Amino acid sequence: MTDALLRYGVVISGGGSNLQALIDRSADGTIPGRIVLVISNEPGAFGLQRAGRAGIPTQVIDHRAFPDRASFEQALAAALDAAQVELVCLAGFMRVLTPWFVRHYRGRLLNIHPALLPAFPGLHVQQRALDAGVRFSGATVHFVVEDVDAGPIVAQAVVPILPGDDAAALAARILQQEHRIFPLAVRLFAQRRLEVQGSRVIIRGHEADAAAALINPLPDG
Ligand code: GRF
Repeated sequence: MTDALLRYGVVISGGGSNLQALIDRSADGTIPGRIVLVISNEPGAFGLQRAGRAGIPTQVIDHRAFPDRASFEQALAAALDAAQVELVCLAGFMRVLTPWFVRHYRGRLLNIHPALLPAFPGLHVQQRALDAGVRFSGATVHFVVEDVDAGPIVAQAVVPILPGDDAAALAARILQQEHRIFPLAVRLFAQRRLEVQGSRVIIRGHEADAAAALINPLPDG
């Protein structure tokens, strides 16, 4: 691929371990892209320090400083658009987005969710998976649509639930997979290989082994 490096933005609310995975995989060339802006709605988010350490511009856009959701999201979009991002990654961003924002970035807005969607959308999903007694959970990267934690699925990874697991242990095991499949999804986007067909994502040039690759995500590189 000779395409120019993808310019992308990452929006966070917290620790930013997924952001770190994206930083690392962009720095080592696995993702043919560059994070040009990290935005947090939480001023104390540790992810801001991760970005700062990597020399990536950061902005705090605190939702509490705005009278309503619409004006908060307009500020968010203005910052992302000013940075000329082609893709926006939601990496532990804990605000629900309105249809206006989702439409503004349709087809170029990715989210990571710590469950195997469409099972367990929403919050507290590790505890809910334990309570439901499922044997497996996992992680999902998907394009964002108007409905929360819905949208065409790009990548998933399966994680076993083991005897004695609590929500924290399961969350940690799922996070390890998040750190693999989010960079994988962004890499595929950056390579212009993702094509949304209705509610499904087709991976160009990968049709034959896509299913196996996504259950056991491709090794980096
Ligand atoms: C991840 O589990 C992500 O899927 C969820 O929030 C968590 C964020 O973790 N939406 P981090 O901030 O990337 O470490």
